[in-house]
Amino acid sequence: MSKSSQHFIVEPLAGRLRGTVRVPGDKSISHRAVIFGALADGTVRVDGLGSGADNKGTARALAALGVGMQERDGVLEIHGVGLRGLTAPASVLDVGNSGTSIRLLAGLLAAQPFASELTGDSSLRGRPMRRVTDPLGSMGARIAGASGSRPGELYPPLAISPAEGLAGIEYDLPVASAQVKSALLLAALYADGPTRLREPGPSRDHTERMLRYLGCPVWANGPLTTFDPAQWDEQLTARPISVPGDPSSAAFLVAAALVAPSDRVAVEDVCINSTRTGFLDVLESMGAKVAMDADPDAGSEPVSELVVEGATELTNAEVTGDLTVRSIDEVPILAVVAARAEGTTWFRDAAELRVKETDRIATTAAMLRAFGVEVEERPDALGVHGNGGRPLRAARVDAAGDHRIAMAAAVAGLVADGPTRIDDTANVGTSFPTFVASMGALGASIRVEDPAASPG
Ligand code: S3P
Repeated sequence: MSKSSQHFIVEPLAGRLRGTVRVPGDKSISHRAVIFGALADGTVRVDGLGSGADNKGTARALAALGVGMQERDGVLEIHGVGLRGLTAPASVLDVGNSGTSIRLLAGLLAAQPFASELTGDSSLRGRPMRRVTDPLGSMGARIAGASGSRPGELYPPLAISPAEGLAGIEYDLPVASAQVKSALLLAALYADGPTRLREPGPSRDHTERMLRYLGCPVWANGPLTTFDPAQWDEQLTARPISVPGDPSSAAFLVAAALVAPSDRVAVEDVCINSTRTGFLDVLESMGAKVAMDADPDAGSEPVSELVVEGATELTNAEVTGDLTVRSIDEVPILAVVAARAEGTTWFRDAAELRVKETDRIATTAAMLRAFGVEVEERPDALGVHGNGGRPLRAARVDAAGDHRIAMAAAVAGLVADGPTRIDDTANVGTSFPTFVASMGALGASIRVEDPAASPG
């Protein structure tokens, strides 16, 4: 796997964190805004779109499929082509590091009357795709993939041939997954007959919310999501979309304020959809107080400021079942919080972490061990032995190209007993390109060095 030469040098926090910041637009909602905006009947104005490379990858793919877009004063105008207006791409669609892009676009492209190919960076080419290609295949999609590390699994590149019509599907997802659910719903928009999906846990529901907001009748009832094309006029209404701040990015700032000396730290305009706020529930169970001030008038997603009034003494948590699903992307940073707490925190039912941007059970464990934290790994669980708030050992950490490992390590570095170096950090730009600036605005010192980028 090719590494970026960019690295962070994090100084132990000298003063106290304080201030009010914003985070970029939610990555998951931004992917959906671009895709559904492209399929709408008319121009959709998206404000607050995520600025990370993952979201840019989705926008580039839709542009290559014939969708016009332009940015004006921070608002992206997407000239929707309607459900059947996409055109064949001239070349392979490369979505970089983004699992959400490749899986959602696989569902969309499986239904198109032209062939296409999807690929990504070396991390993405190591991520399993059968979870989407199998059920899409049952609907009639024709998708070929590459072989890879696990026998029988399929990996990108995905070569998608035009299908001769898709059928709706009744499908029990083996793991809770918003990417799989969304890929199937995208294909279902084009299918003959209803689609009925059942999930074992509460994955994020941004696709369902946005489809309903644009006038498409997708219904959710607990673990069931249903869509019947017979009850729809094939039109997605061109309405403006406002993307709230990303809770998965805000989590790093909230965690920093809880583990490092701090006064009032606030993150404005954060999405608090309950399928995303498991990390706040975990923090609360550890004894943290994170205040919210929800805006009742926010669009299709609930929004609030998140406020921490100073660091707190924390105790261990037990994270299992649905709570793991609702905090899956926040486990690396929650593990840093757990390292500072009293007692042992377990993250269980977490096998999905093994197939994220990196194997996050392994990379989180390695990162914490570098800081001198005692950690236990299981096939589907991670145990973190907290040190009760003592300083961590200054470390040299390999982020392994994983944005969330890099940012979690940077927060840990604030409470280490000397400077911490974090290698291979360029992918922080996939989700939170303003991370270093936001941490700096709160009073942290993180230096970005990139020998390959600087002349001489
Ligand atoms: C995402 C869904 C989650 C999450 C990922 C983004 C999405 O994965 O981990 O970072 O935008 O749909 P699952 O598909 O496993 O739910």
